[in-house]
Amino acid sequence: MKILGIETSCDETGAAVIEAVPGEKMVRVCSNVIATSLAKHALTGGIIPEVAAREQVNFMLPVLNDALVKAGLSTTGKPDIDAIAVTYGPGLIGSLLVGVETAKTLALLWDIPLIPVNHMYGHIYANWIETPTTLNVAPITFPALALVVSGGHTDLVLLESHGQLKVIGGTRDDAAGEAFDKIGRLLGLPYPAGPVISRLAQEGNPKAYRLPRPMWDSKDYDFSFSGLKTSVLNLVKKHEWDFTKQPLGNDEQLLADLCASVQQAIIDVLVFKTISAAKKYEVKTLMLAGGVAANKQLTDRFQTEVINQLPGVSFHVPPPTLCTDNAAMIAAAGYFNNTTVSWKEVTADPELYY
Ligand code: KG4
Ligand code: ZN
Repeated sequence: MKILGIETSCDETGAAVIEAVPGEKMVRVCSNVIATSLAKHALTGGIIPEVAAREQVNFMLPVLNDALVKAGLSTTGKPDIDAIAVTYGPGLIGSLLVGVETAKTLALLWDIPLIPVNHMYGHIYANWIETPTTLNVAPITFPALALVVSGGHTDLVLLESHGQLKVIGGTRDDAAGEAFDKIGRLLGLPYPAGPVISRLAQEGNPKAYRLPRPMWDSKDYDFSFSGLKTSVLNLVKKHEWDFTKQPLGNDEQLLADLCASVQQAIIDVLVFKTISAAKKYEVKTLMLAGGVAANKQLTDRFQTEVINQLPGVSFHVPPPTLCTDNAAMIAAAGYFNNTTVSWKEVTADPELYY
């Protein structure tokens, strides 16, 4: 069967077609198209919801058209699609509405089922999309643990089976991606700062600055990253560093060292808490999900720690393009959690939890 996925929760407009064969463990991507208004938000150092929503309106139909064409499907009559999966929350209300209303209209027009999908489930289900790498890894088996690390979330989610999810920990304040972005702003780096910090960190010394590992000793699986941000702010103020001046000269190495130290602090906490939870719940699979999972240093460290500390546990992380927001992951989540509803019953829910 073929499912059309639609994703418009934030600043990315996505449409994708996936193919699923009943009985097979993974789904295949026929097309996965993304347009982003990121360049506009980079100018303001963060997302302005109204701007993101307007861009969603501009991008939605061309992206949809492109996704159907790339999947070899009709764009004039009813395409060979069996269901539509759409993100209905969490996210920005103006952005969500564009995708939800488009999906409802198409479901009515084509007379096919509509599957409302939680964006966070989407991130997790990116792990069920077949890629050249997944062919060499042991399949996902339950119980599984997912670390969801995005711009808005840092959650540890236990999966007993498809659709049976339990959040066992989460951030008490800033999410990991938010910490990267806010610290990046303090350092004068462009938004989103996660990929920039990751790149600069490659040239830096992760032990150069002693930064806190928040909630390391708490006996739960919760996270907190706002204290880390304050520590960096205090350092910057104390030394009167200004990384916006050009050329940076000697400060270039200083900035790289600071980025490497920040990244190391975030990775240390994420890895420690996740591995502890995986041991406690005796999971068979560990998965990463969300934009921060595109961080190579994070995934490399997990690879090593899983081999050393979790023998027999399979480790999965989607390729970077499937870690950040996209519609193929929404279609995959729709397939494995198939709760089709009438188009009349679907409404956008910006505050949706798991
Ligand atoms: O999942 P996502 O695309 O959107 C949300 O649903 O939030 O995640 C975006 C977040 C941003 O905070 C961005 O800075 C972070 O993911 N990010 C990274 C990397 N690539 C994206 N953080 C660290 N290292 C990266 N390579
Ligand atoms: Zn996301």
